[in-house]
Amino acid sequence: MSDQLLSHPYLHTADDLSYEDIQLVFSKAQYFLENYKPGVKFDDLKGMTIALAFFENSTRTRLSFELAAKRLSGEVFSFAAAQSSLAKGESLIDTFRTIEAMTVHMYVIRHGSSGVPRFLQNNSNSIIINAGDGKHEHPTQSLLDAFTLQKYFGKVKDLKVCIVGDILHSRVARSNVTMLNTLGAEVGVLAPGTLLPFGWQTWKVKPMATIEEAIEWSDVILMLRLQRERMESGLLPSNREFSNYYGVDLKRFNSKPNLVLLHPGPVNFGVELDYEISALPNVLIETQVTHGVFIRMALLSLLSKFVKI
Ligand code: CP
Repeated sequence: MSDQLLSHPYLHTADDLSYEDIQLVFSKAQYFLENYKPGVKFDDLKGMTIALAFFENSTRTRLSFELAAKRLSGEVFSFAAAQSSLAKGESLIDTFRTIEAMTVHMYVIRHGSSGVPRFLQNNSNSIIINAGDGKHEHPTQSLLDAFTLQKYFGKVKDLKVCIVGDILHSRVARSNVTMLNTLGAEVGVLAPGTLLPFGWQTWKVKPMATIEEAIEWSDVILMLRLQRERMESGLLPSNREFSNYYGVDLKRFNSKPNLVLLHPGPVNFGVELDYEISALPNVLIETQVTHGVFIRMALLSLLSKFVKI
């Protein structure tokens, strides 16, 4: 395979990746997808230590990074914030320096505060990958979403993708707006006015007024989770009202032939999506999870080229 390098020895935002970088990640992910066999390991991360530092809960991102690093022969250790000395008052930066002292080559970091990966990168020569920071960005999610579309449609360029739901609290939305625009897709947005962030009008997106309009316009609906845990009171009258105006049920999904639906998970079934559509062939939620492992293998492998042992 090519020895081409990514533009940066880190991944903090979707904007860190050029069009060519994304194609490089996709081609490496495709290679791993075609060549991975259970029980056989690649040696891309041999001799390297990868720290998974999750200060916020995760199922998909943490497990897929762990699996990806292990399949590439990396040594992996997990930092569990709740059981750490953070609980005794140790600061974030001192915690990070303590982990650094154990010789780590790459960090995968999730944190509830926006900007933490960049802040830590400014205090480190190691490679830092953002696994989701507050409401800011989740660049590996947007990579795996776009890879899923590339595999399904054979292209991302000129696809019409509408992002629907709680855009205010969504790092997935921010990363996807950037990534989909880089790849030449058209991006729509649909959300209640209270769930759109300040300044969204500067994004390169087409606003939609109703879920019916969004479905009619789109090739793909990228539905988001209603993030009640980040929400101030008063932003929504009720889950039921949100579901009535913005949710996708079987009737709405079937109103557009060949419509494809993505969701980054976890899904609030009965709120943004009805459970009965989750197993339909054009609903690619499980495929996204599967692709997440190969995309993260690709990213770790490409970033490992910057590591000096
Ligand atoms: N999509 C996503 O980030 O899921 P997790 O929170 O389970 O990692």
